[in-house]
Amino acid sequence: MRAAIRCLLPACVFALAGTAVGQIVPGDYTSYPSVSVVNTPHNLNNFPGVNIPGNQVCLPCHTPHNALLSGEANVLWNHQETGETFAMYSSAAGQPEGVSKMCLSCHDGVTAIDNYGGNGGTGIVITGSAAIGTDLSNDHPIGIAYPTSQPTEYRNPSSFAPGIGGGPGVRLATINSVDRVECTSCHNVHNNGLGNFLRVPIQESYLCLQCHIK
Ligand code: HEC
Ligand code: HEC
Ligand code: HEC
Ligand code: HEC
Repeated sequence: MRAAIRCLLPACVFALAGTAVGQIVPGDYTSYPSVSVVNTPHNLNNFPGVNIPGNQVCLPCHTPHNALLSGEANVLWNHQETGETFAMYSSAAGQPEGVSKMCLSCHDGVTAIDNYGGNGGTGIVITGSAAIGTDLSNDHPIGIAYPTSQPTEYRNPSSFAPGIGGGPGVRLATINSVDRVECTSCHNVHNNGLGNFLRVPIQESYLCLQCHIK
């Protein structure tokens, strides 16, 4: 609304032209905007009441030394892991693991978002619609093996189209040697160019049709 008002001024035509408000064309990754994590809600300094020393954007999630997790794919994790028990969509899925557990370490709506590096945090939690919570039974299934043996229902992962900048689009996460659907299958935690940190556009349900043949 505010942009519209400002655009009554002739000068703003040029201003808008410079901000790449282009149209997102599903399937044409050159049309996907890129927005660094620095300028997203995942820069926790943008969250009311949270102050990360030195404006270190990566620190709540990653540390160069003494990470809180170890082993394969620990991505030098620095955030307190969720201790909650989750209700799952699919009975085939166990409790969240790996990357999904990392997301739920803030999006459970219970663990303090600034509880990293063993500091305990200030108790500030995510509320509202971004708090996915502990009931995942009404959310798209995660923690499930991708059914490569149903070629009429599910696309071959080799056909997944590129995402922002031509990098990985929809992707599977390998956990315990199994290629699975996890939060990061649809979300790119570091780039919010498409909104909701999505890996490919949701327009025309392009995201869904990467996997589902419908
Ligand atoms: C809100 C949490 C969060 C923030 C902030 C964050 N990351 Fe990550 N990062 C993750 C998660 C979760 C993963 C693992 C999931 C994945 O690979 O997509 C990851 C994976 C990575 C990886 C390994 C996989 C890859 O994508 O290359 C690198 C490198 C990385 N992050 C670097 C950074 C840097 C550098 C910053 C700061 C500029 C940063 N991250 C900020 C959550 C975060
Ligand atoms: C260190 C805490 C933290 C971690 C870890 C984290 N997030 Fe977030 N995320 C946030 C906060 C804080 C917000 C902003 C919530 C709000 O505005 O109320 C957010 C917002 C989001 C949004 C909404 C973005 C928008 O445009 O409104 C999505 C989607 C999201 N996160 C997905 C993920 C996924 C997927 C992961 C794991 C790969 C993840 N997050 C890991 C803290 C985190
Ligand atoms: C199958 C794809 C898919 C998977 C898997 C997935 N998401 Fe999402 N997510 C979406 C889409 C699409 C949206 C945007 C539409 C919407 O708001 O429902 C979204 C929205 C969100 C939002 C913003 C909600 C809001 O209203 O502010 C958060 C936070 C989020 N996802 C976190 C997660 C977390 C955490 C996981 C893993 C537990 C996850 N997502 C798994 C597709 C997915
Ligand atoms: C990364 C691949 C992938 C993406 C992207 C994806 N899905 Fe799924 N979806 C799956 C898998 C795998 C299952 C579970 C199959 C099983 O367990 O039988 C599933 C399950 C479902 C189910 C439940 C089916 C049932 O039998 O209960 C629905 C509905 C669904 N997806 C809709 C969507 C929608 C809508 C989107 C886009 C917002 C989407 N999916 C994106 C892979 C994906």
